[in-house]
Amino acid sequence: MSLKVSKYAASIAALLMLSAIANGQKPESEPFGKTKDGTAVEVYTLKSSKGLVAKIMTRGATLTELHLPDKDGTIADCILGWDDVAGYESEDNQYFGCTTGRVCNRIAKGKFTLDGKEYTLAINNDLNHLHGGVEKSLDKVVWTAKTWGGEKASGVTFTYKSPDGEEGYPGNLTVSVTYSVPRDKNNLSISYKATTDQATPVNLTNHAYFNLSGAGSKTVLNHALLVNAESYTPNDETLIPTGKIESVEGTDLDFRKFTRIAKRVKNFDEKPEIGYDHNFVLKPKPEGKKMVFAAALRDAKSGRQMRIMTSEPGIQFYSGNFLKGQVGKDGKTYAHRSALCLETQHFPDSINHENFPTTVLKPGEEFTSQSVYQFSTFVPRKNAGKAKGKKSESKNDEK
Ligand code: BGC
Repeated sequence: MSLKVSKYAASIAALLMLSAIANGQKPESEPFGKTKDGTAVEVYTLKSSKGLVAKIMTRGATLTELHLPDKDGTIADCILGWDDVAGYESEDNQYFGCTTGRVCNRIAKGKFTLDGKEYTLAINNDLNHLHGGVEKSLDKVVWTAKTWGGEKASGVTFTYKSPDGEEGYPGNLTVSVTYSVPRDKNNLSISYKATTDQATPVNLTNHAYFNLSGAGSKTVLNHALLVNAESYTPNDETLIPTGKIESVEGTDLDFRKFTRIAKRVKNFDEKPEIGYDHNFVLKPKPEGKKMVFAAALRDAKSGRQMRIMTSEPGIQFYSGNFLKGQVGKDGKTYAHRSALCLETQHFPDSINHENFPTTVLKPGEEFTSQSVYQFSTFVPRKNAGKAKGKKSESKNDEK
């Protein structure tokens, strides 16, 4: 009898498990600590069946960890971050992994005019406004989270209501960012939505710092990068676009073929950017498609690679020039150029350049944006002969 009961219980348990898989499980959450003002922060975990684990916390809707398998299946966390909220609140945090806005990157002198009214924002970067402001930029506020789990993917949607006038921006803005991971692929999708009750500029991105050898590895200079851009927006000496759109042809910004970052980065040492810190103008989206291939990054040491698809017209390649040896997760040191950002976005300072795609969101409209980060592995050329069934480094090879 007891055997019968336990058999029955076991089959019920198996059925429940199958139905949980079919219905999809929601991401789990756990406490991550408290902000200085005592607000509780939660962190959510998304997983694929292929080894990707992403953690995102409610402060700043910030990607805090991104674990990825290498060519041998060894998992490492490949983005910079901190072990606790205090780290993220410290001066050493240079926007690690956060949702950046209301307007990412720079607005010249923190000023813009909209519908005949001039607005003044905080100056927090030399003469300019950077990444949405000082106290209540989107990276510093605590968002509310809602999880979901479907048959094919699961995710978490973070929402924040930014009141009219916050950080100097007009309009009550409701903004949400959804992180999701499909069950059977190492992809991370980040999509944004926003609505407003007054015209206001909006430009949102994620500010993850990647090192595909694992966060805390010495450098990203040996990573090879490809950017699907024929042109870029040159900067003035304060890193504000001049308004021109110039061809990458014959410049150190030509990444139309995979090129090691080390190859030309030194040519920027004496320039205002002190490294790569440029907005690339992506090729237009193919007809009928919501996203375009934006960039790919390869690390021959680990065999990890990333492809970025986006609905955005631009991507900022920032080579971690201001990283200063701060000590982050697990006591690892983040040295100069030990990680890089690839920030999908509208062009910097668009609100002051009529020839750039507009960043103005009006009442009754919905802002939408999506980027998908696709992770996989490849067999670096020197090992290519040894491994079977894995793609070798052949197409679009490094220069
Ligand atoms: C900017 C850099 C800036 C960095 C801050 C990047 O998006 O382009 O100029 O220093 O963010 O962490």
